Amino acid sequence: MGERSTPHAPVTCAVIAQKGGVGKTTTLLGIAGAAWERGLRVLVVDLDPQANATAALDPVSTAYTTSDVLADARPGVAADAIVRSGWGLGVDVLPSERALEHRAVPEGRDSTLRLRLALEGVIDHYDLVLVDCPPSLGELTRNALAAVRLALVVTEPSFFALPGAAAALESIEVVRGSNNLVLRPVGVVVNRTRPQTTEHAFRLDELRTAYPDLVLPVTVPDRTALQQAQGACVPVQSWRSPGAAEAAEAYEVILDAVLARAEEAIGGLAVAPAIGFSTGTDA
Ligand SMILES: Nc1ncnc2c1ncn2[C@@H]1O[C@H](COP(=O)(O)OP(=O)(O)OP(=O)(O)O)[C@@H](O)[C@H]1O
Ligand SMILES: [Mg+2]
Repeated sequence: MGERSTPHAPVTCAVIAQKGGVGKTTTLLGIAGAAWERGLRVLVVDLDPQANATAALDPVSTAYTTSDVLADARPGVAADAIVRSGWGLGVDVLPSERALEHRAVPEGRDSTLRLRLALEGVIDHYDLVLVDCPPSLGELTRNALAAVRLALVVTEPSFFALPGAAAALESIEVVRGSNNLVLRPVGVVVNRTRPQTTEHAFRLDELRTAYPDLVLPVTVPDRTALQQAQGACVPVQSWRSPGAAEAAEAYEVILDAVLARAEEAIGGLAVAPAIGFSTGTDA
């Protein structure tokens, strides 16, 4: 693990949602855990002032954070802030802190390119870079989307799922059009499902009808083990319970979807096709 020395282009993916509390951080940690288990070199960039991913990854230090990095924004400056996570070798963190909230909206024309600049060259030593975003599609999320090639949308199967997913997918389109032509959606993860409830089944069906190509084939079930693993600062993959195993299985499929999308992009589809908004209204 971590022995490959040749720099290469990593798979870069932001995890976004319009709404708070739908499971962005949980999904990101699940994917990071799946990648960690496979021996991939992972960097988690925490771009949420709540710093939930930072807390769950329990890094060795949080002396420098994304707040400092965005304030500086010199090419490659992120290297000064990246530290090893408490998960051990193979998962590093660019931590966040509450102060990011106030420092996050720098003036100027290229303010959304600050994260991309700061990560320049730094990310080439990883296989997978995941960016956790705050619960809005504002400046910080736009910074994340400008710095990555892929974006994963997370939603819960609720009344707000469809408009929330639509807004998140639209913001991917907007950033792609303005400063990141290679950006493309991996898809929509439906989190915290309880398939036996008719409301959840209905909302899932609604999402699949609107975005047949984008809603991922697996959903992440509502499992307490995810909260327990987060509280213990370990990947759910190393938590021993049936619920943890079920969740880990879902994250395997989601990681595969991320890697497959990245591969498609390299294999000639570098410029992503437009998101099929029309399928929603035709259906
Ligand atoms: N599939 C799940 N099963 C059980 N609990 C879950 C699941 N997904 C998320 N949770 C719990 O729900 C809460 C919110 O999840 P999470 O922090 O991942 O959401 P978020 O979208 O990142 O929130 P925010 O918008 O505040 O950043 C957390 O306590 C988390 O442990
Ligand atoms: Mg979060």
